[in-house]
Amino acid sequence: MRIGFGSDHAAVDMKAILMEHLAEQGHECVDFGPESAEQRTDYPDKALEVAEAVKTGEIDKGVLCCGTGIGMALAANKVPGIRASVCGDPFSAEMTVRHNNANIITIGARVVGSELAKMIVDSFFNAEFEGGRHARRVDKITAIEEKYSKG
Ligand code: RB5
Repeated sequence: MRIGFGSDHAAVDMKAILMEHLAEQGHECVDFGPESAEQRTDYPDKALEVAEAVKTGEIDKGVLCCGTGIGMALAANKVPGIRASVCGDPFSAEMTVRHNNANIITIGARVVGSELAKMIVDSFFNAEFEGGRHARRVDKITAIEEKYSKG
C-alpha cells in the first residue's frame, strides 16, 4: 500500500518511527514532512496535504500525527471523502476500517507510546472494510458532506 505521512512539530519522531515500521512491512511510505521538530508546523496544513493526496489517489491511505491526534482528525475530516479517525488502541484502529472505511488514521504522540502506536497502525492496515450494512452507514456520512457542500 502507498501510505502518506504527515505531522506537526510535536510528532516528528512518532512519524519517523511509524514510517520505518510500515516500510519494513513492504509498504511504500511517502513523507509529507516536516523533516524536524525545529520546523514549527501547524497541524491543519499537513492534514490538508495528506487528505488531498488521499482524495486524488496519489496515496492510498494516510497516517497523521500531532500531540493528541485530535487536531489532525478534525482538519482532515473537512476534506470531502476523508474519514480520519483518532485512535489510541488497536481495537478502535481495526474497527474504524472494518465499519467506517477510514482512510486516514491519526495518532497522538503525547498520548500513546511508540510500541503501542506500532500495534495501532498494524491493526489499521491489516483490516478490511466489511461493506454491507456498514456501507449504507458510510454512505450516510457522505450524504451529510454533500448536503453541506452545496453552499
Ligand atoms: C501542538 O502544540 C498541539 O496543539 C498539536 O500537536 C495537537 O495536539 C493538536 O490537536
